[in-house]
Amino acid sequence: MPQSPSLFSADSYFSTQPPPSGLEHDISGVKEFVRRQKEKGRNVVLVTSGGTTVPLELNVVRFLDNFSAGTRGATSAEYFLKAGYAVIFMHRQFSLQPFSRHYSHSTNPFLDFLEIEPGTNMQPSSDVSDPGSMSSQICVTPNKRKDLLEVLTAYKAVHAAGTLHTLTFVTVNDYLWLLRAVSQELSVLKRKAMYYLAAAVSDFFLPRQKMSEHKIQSGKGSLHIEMDQVPKILKPMVDDWTGKDGFIVSFKLETDPALLVPKAQISLERYGHQVVIGNDLNRRKYEVVFISWKDALPPSSKGPNSDLSNPRYAESWLKIDPHDHNKEIEEDIVAELVKRHKIWITGAEASTK
Ligand code: PMT
Repeated sequence: MPQSPSLFSADSYFSTQPPPSGLEHDISGVKEFVRRQKEKGRNVVLVTSGGTTVPLELNVVRFLDNFSAGTRGATSAEYFLKAGYAVIFMHRQFSLQPFSRHYSHSTNPFLDFLEIEPGTNMQPSSDVSDPGSMSSQICVTPNKRKDLLEVLTAYKAVHAAGTLHTLTFVTVNDYLWLLRAVSQELSVLKRKAMYYLAAAVSDFFLPRQKMSEHKIQSGKGSLHIEMDQVPKILKPMVDDWTGKDGFIVSFKLETDPALLVPKAQISLERYGHQVVIGNDLNRRKYEVVFISWKDALPPSSKGPNSDLSNPRYAESWLKIDPHDHNKEIEEDIVAELVKRHKIWITGAEASTK
């Protein structure tokens, strides 16, 4: 076991940290989903969404959390479904989900959309053979019907088509194990798979071997915890888990606008994947920047960046009107990625002819 403080590689992480209990079950569901989508010839995108937690105790009472409501992931998943993709939606338990996000309990509680028709008997029927007697007297507020019908129609169509598969994580450990296993399953689709990593993943964690079994007791003054660094898993994901074929999109969140583009470029250079989407915390709902390779060459064929006057990154901004509340930037992000993914797929087909 690595000693404290340690730098875990992805391999040493997975050989020392235990898998979540439901992993096998989750993966057999993913395998079946991928098999069906492959049969139908669909592109599949893995969308990760929401923040991971780091528990401080084995019997967990306290944990650290990462910021993310899951808006980016849940909204993007809907637009991918609309574009004909099958979606594996891997999200933090209780964070926003596609479709139901429109009726979030805090911003748009669904009970506010319902009305009880006048004259309805407020006592639920005791007749068990007629459980619907109350519900038939509940209706949707007239001015909410159009929007609800639109969301409900899309939701039902996706369920009927079987194109959405949902997975849940809570801790960073759940996330890492799931991400590796799902990526490996998806890699059978080669270039038809896209990976859209919108989750906000913890940078530090407490290895299981260092965790207190019971609730950490207060009363001994300040608390000192030394955490280990979460391994940088994008590298093995690009090089090994996805078989170098997947179209991988990561996100970079910054709060200092001056750091956004340079940090996104460093990320692209370090991991050698296809796109980094930079977003500033306060402007993320109406502007993002795409950082990608300037030409279509795979990064492995590029060699060191010796010519600094000729940057090898393309930078393109997507912006929408911040005052237009009917427009979601994820619609444009997804449209742009679908376009680029198509080129990625046809590029591979052309090179094998
Ligand atoms: O959900 P919202 O409230 O709408 O917010 C969306 C968002 C701002 C959280 C999202 O758009 C975003 O930027 N997500 C990435 C946050 C971030 O900066 O992550 P990072 O720097 O820790 O990681 C960079 C990338 O690698 C991310 O794509 C992350 O998902 C991925 N990563 C990082 C570490 C790790 N161990 N595993 C990973 O997959």
